[in-house]
Amino acid sequence: MRVARLFNLLAALALFCCIGTAWAAEPGQAPATLNSSDCQKCHEKPPKDIAEKGGKHKTEITCQDCHVGHPPKVKHPIPQCSMCHTGKPHFQLKDCLGCHRNPHTPKVITFGTNVTDACLTCHKPQIEQLKAYPSKHTSLACSFCHNVHGKKPDCTQCHKSHSSDITKNECKLCHKAHQPLNVTYKADTPSKYCAACHKRPFNLLANSTAKHSKLACVYCHQNKHKTVPKCTDCHGVPHPASLMSKFAKCQECHNIAHDLNHWSAPAGGAKPAAPAAKAAPAKKPATKK
Ligand code: HEC
Ligand code: HEC
Ligand code: HEC
Ligand code: HEC
Ligand code: HEC
Ligand code: HEC
Ligand code: HEC
Ligand code: HEC
Ligand code: HEC
Ligand code: HEC
Ligand code: HEC
Ligand code: HEC
Repeated sequence: MRVARLFNLLAALALFCCIGTAWAAEPGQAPATLNSSDCQKCHEKPPKDIAEKGGKHKTEITCQDCHVGHPPKVKHPIPQCSMCHTGKPHFQLKDCLGCHRNPHTPKVITFGTNVTDACLTCHKPQIEQLKAYPSKHTSLACSFCHNVHGKKPDCTQCHKSHSSDITKNECKLCHKAHQPLNVTYKADTPSKYCAACHKRPFNLLANSTAKHSKLACVYCHQNKHKTVPKCTDCHGVPHPASLMSKFAKCQECHNIAHDLNHWSAPAGGAKPAAPAAKAAPAKKPATKK
């Protein structure tokens, strides 16, 4: 079979050499010309590749737009990409076929794990974020994470979660891939996610009888990780200035936000016991308003 095919090929080639030189076989007959539908008679793979995955190299151009001429008349009719692709930073890159491995399937793209600059010819915001928020991701190549074009990896491909409560789809509740240390979150982030790293505040609040225990962590520590509110952000100064002037901080009487000091406000308007202030004030703190 193989031999027979080769023989056919050679025979066709012998004929074709004449065609190729546009030689009129017989006087009076128009010179035979080679056109793109002839190629498949002798070449198997390129026409097949183009038919399957040629993309715009199939629909916008023909074999002969790229392959101008044919051996033996034209020795090596292989085009430069720059014959047709110019005018964009992307087209200044070296080694087009290093990524577009096969010109007959131009959208089938493969690259190594250390590509960054080439990506920047089309994607700008990501590198800007990586640089504006330095982290260990900044020094990784784009294709270290995106090893197939367009693919977005799960964080858990490389990292363990903080706890079994936090699933791989939830990392982005707090992290952005290109600025991973700039941790921000929304108002519906469950407190148990914070508890993965902050057991103490979580347990204190859970065991507290004060109304703070009903609040989510992110109700007080809003939006951005490490935000610490002041008591007065929410409460103003609920006691008279005469009292406050003797105490530098609300916490001197109320202990800490996660564990308001022995707070047990009884129902029915009765005054609760004064919080055990370190200063043990003789005066009663002011009542409500
Ligand atoms: C009659 C058979 C035949 C036809 C038809 C034919 N080719 Fe070829 N082609 C060959 C052979 C044989 C070679 C190898 C020639 C050589 O290496 O000197 C070749 C080589 C080539 C090469 C390689 C050149 C290189 O330097 O590596 C290209 C490109 C090519 N053909 C494209 C085409 C295109 C495009 C068509 C259709 C327009 C076509 N061929 C039609 C037989 C054919
Ligand atoms: C967008 C331009 C372009 C189009 C369209 C195109 N080719 Fe090519 N072709 C190339 C380039 C570039 C190479 C060299 C690839 C390499 O160096 O790896 C090549 C290589 C070849 C070769 C030699 C190597 C091989 O793979 O056998 C043949 C034969 C060939 N093409 C035939 C064709 C045929 C037939 C068509 C139409 C069905 C076609 N090409 C369409 C650009 C094109
Ligand atoms: C003879 C002209 C010509 C040559 C040579 C050529 N291309 Fe193209 N290519 C086109 C045209 C026309 C389009 C469609 C319009 C566009 O996207 O610019 C195209 C589209 C593409 C596309 C997008 C395909 C799609 O389906 O969206 C890629 C990728 C591409 N070319 C890569 C290359 C590479 C790599 C080379 C060199 C190996 C090359 N081209 C050589 C003419 C050419
Ligand atoms: C590092 C890998 C890489 C290199 C090197 C590379 N490309 Fe691309 N190219 C891509 C990727 C990725 C795309 C986007 C494909 C998509 O849109 O799905 C692309 C898209 C294209 C497109 C279609 C989109 C457009 O902007 O028109 C063309 C044409 C193209 N490349 C031509 C070239 C040429 C010409 C060269 C060499 C000067 C080259 N490429 C070098 C990876 C590369
Ligand atoms: C020639 C331009 C071009 C080049 C070069 C290019 N891309 Fe793209 N990329 C695109 C286009 C066009 C899309 C699809 C449209 C979109 O979603 O922005 C895309 C999509 C993506 C997506 C998916 C976006 C989404 O929202 O789903 C990722 C991830 C990506 N590219 C990463 C890369 C990386 C990494 C590189 C370098 C290895 C690269 N790209 C090189 C043009 C390019
Ligand atoms: C540490 C791994 C990592 C590195 C390094 C990385 N990315 Fe990403 N990238 C991701 C992940 C994960 C996503 C998905 C984010 C999501 O779904 O919210 C993503 C999303 C994208 C997207 C989709 C749009 C967007 O901004 O969310 C593009 C485009 C992209 N990356 C391009 C790049 C480019 C270009 C570089 C290099 C400058 C790069 N990436 C570096 C992991 C990475
Ligand atoms: C392809 C692997 C890969 C993917 C995917 C990936 N990372 Fe990373 N990440 C790394 C590597 C490597 C480091 C550096 C580790 C080291 O040096 O200890 C890192 C470091 C980090 C750091 C610490 C940064 C610092 O400067 O201390 C955080 C936070 C982080 N990643 C979060 C994420 C999140 C969130 C995602 C998903 C959006 C993600 N990563 C996706 C590989 C990855
Ligand atoms: C509730 C918010 C939140 C969620 C959800 C979250 N993280 Fe984090 N992550 C953080 C905080 C806060 C840090 C500490 C940042 C610092 O040290 O400043 C961190 C740090 C990291 C680090 C750096 C190393 C370390 O452990 O301290 C990695 C890696 C990381 N996260 C990966 C992930 C992955 C993967 C997911 C999803 C499975 C995820 N994170 C989900 C808040 C979150
Ligand atoms: C991956 C572990 C991790 C997760 C998850 C995490 N944190 Fe943190 N958090 C840290 C680390 C590490 C520090 C720095 C501790 C230090 O500096 O001693 C910190 C510090 C803090 C601080 C104190 C800032 C200061 O100035 O003292 C607050 C408040 C805080 N986190 C709140 C939260 C909240 C709210 C959540 C949930 C939305 C959360 N954290 C989730 C690791 C985490
Ligand atoms: C982000 C807002 C916010 C911050 C910051 C905050 N609180 Fe509160 N606090 C509340 C809310 C909401 C309640 C419950 C009010 C209600 O249900 O009537 C509350 C209740 C209280 C109560 C009454 C407790 C009870 O069980 O009746 C005290 C006392 C109190 N806060 C003291 C403090 C102190 C002291 C600080 C600072 C260490 C502080 N708060 C910080 C929002 C806040
Ligand atoms: C009512 C508001 C409020 C709530 C709810 C709250 N915090 Fe705080 N948190 C504060 C305030 C105010 C401080 C500053 C120190 C103080 O006065 O207690 C603080 C301090 C911290 C600190 C740094 C000091 C320390 O105690 O380690 C961390 C970490 C922290 N909070 C984490 C959390 C976590 C995790 C949750 C949820 C389990 C939470 N907070 C719930 C108000 C709150
Ligand atoms: C000298 C001790 C002391 C200091 C300092 C103090 N408080 Fe109080 N606070 C009390 C006592 C005692 C009560 C209970 C009195 C009552 O319910 O009438 C109370 C009640 C409250 C209540 C609950 C009021 C209500 O309507 O239920 C809030 C909120 C509060 N304090 C916030 C603060 C804030 C904010 C600061 C700092 C600006 C502060 N306190 C400083 C002792 C103190």
